[in-house]
Amino acid sequence: MQTELLPVSRPAIDRAGQLIRQGALVAFPTETVYGLGANALDADAVRRIFEAKGRPGDNPLIAHISAVEQLASLIDCEPSLAARALMDACWPGPMTLIFPRSRAVPDAVTAGLDTVAVRLPAHPAARALIDAAQRPIAAPSANRSGRPSPTTARHVLEDMDGRIPLILDGGPCEVGLESTVIDVTGGVPRVLRPGGVTPERIAAICGGVQVDDAVMRPLKEGERPRSPGMKYRHYAPAGALTIVKGEERAVASAICRLYDEALGQGKRPLILALNTHLPAYGARRALSLGSDAGEMAHEIFARLRDADALGADALFSEAVGTEGVGLAVMNRLGRAAAFHIVEVK
Ligand code: TXA
Ligand code: MG
Repeated sequence: MQTELLPVSRPAIDRAGQLIRQGALVAFPTETVYGLGANALDADAVRRIFEAKGRPGDNPLIAHISAVEQLASLIDCEPSLAARALMDACWPGPMTLIFPRSRAVPDAVTAGLDTVAVRLPAHPAARALIDAAQRPIAAPSANRSGRPSPTTARHVLEDMDGRIPLILDGGPCEVGLESTVIDVTGGVPRVLRPGGVTPERIAAICGGVQVDDAVMRPLKEGERPRSPGMKYRHYAPAGALTIVKGEERAVASAICRLYDEALGQGKRPLILALNTHLPAYGARRALSLGSDAGEMAHEIFARLRDADALGADALFSEAVGTEGVGLAVMNRLGRAAAFHIVEVK
């Protein structure tokens, strides 16, 4: 299959909408990461997503809508007060809510669960595509399973060339990390995947929030997570990643030592560090993660892809604090490292 890459335009969106209606896949920009979309109400189309990504069939997808009114047909209840408050404050935006599902949603989307994940994205091209398709669009991130999520159309092409007919190019994604996934089926909203909508913000909107403790640790043997996505080692660079955490100077000297040891063992090490810390690593090979947690959110997936492209086989990364969007950054980095985190003093 030939993969076409078209800049976002009215005719491109119309063509993409037509492809979705015909059951084909289209990659499209959102404010978080690029999505790989199919008609959410067509089980055969949705199965093509799993094939193109090589995604395990038990990991459910997010249904994307372009207006709040479209929610009712996908869910099987009135949204709770907390859900309403979150929708009012954070939609359109980088937030996904988990509701009891309606029967209109095929099993292929929910992986057989009795809940469905729904998001109203802010990116105008994403919303225009949903409107053009005249259907909700099921879309995971547009990477091959296990690769970092794509934040540019070029990343999508790297992973999906020859597998899908069309990629809409809307430039780099604004947030750079996937949406916050919040379970609103119970009393207090529970964060299953941290993202741009932070726990602090959720607490301010709803008066309370729980963060699932599996967000910052590996799953135990045989443990059934609240969100199937927690099971998989996402965002994995080809090289082994170690995160070094602690006081700034101690971190720099530990990373230098680990880097030099790896080099001595004939490896090709690489450092990921905050911009302002780069001088501490001298002539060692290092990439910038930006200057704070927000920039890191924006850069991290692209840098993990760069690390692969450079053939790095031992990666050492600095950490950031888990306040605000830092929690989402450390969740993605932690999982890329299979939670191999070294603390230094
Ligand atoms: O920002 C985003 O959310 C992007 C863009 C394209 O919208 N999409 C995205 O999709 O990141 P994906 O498939 O890569 O991640 C969806 C996550 C997975 O971890 C999945 O397990 C979880 O949401 N999920 C989906 N449905 C669920 C459900 N019913 N209950 C619990 N977790 C669910
Ligand atoms: Mg994904």
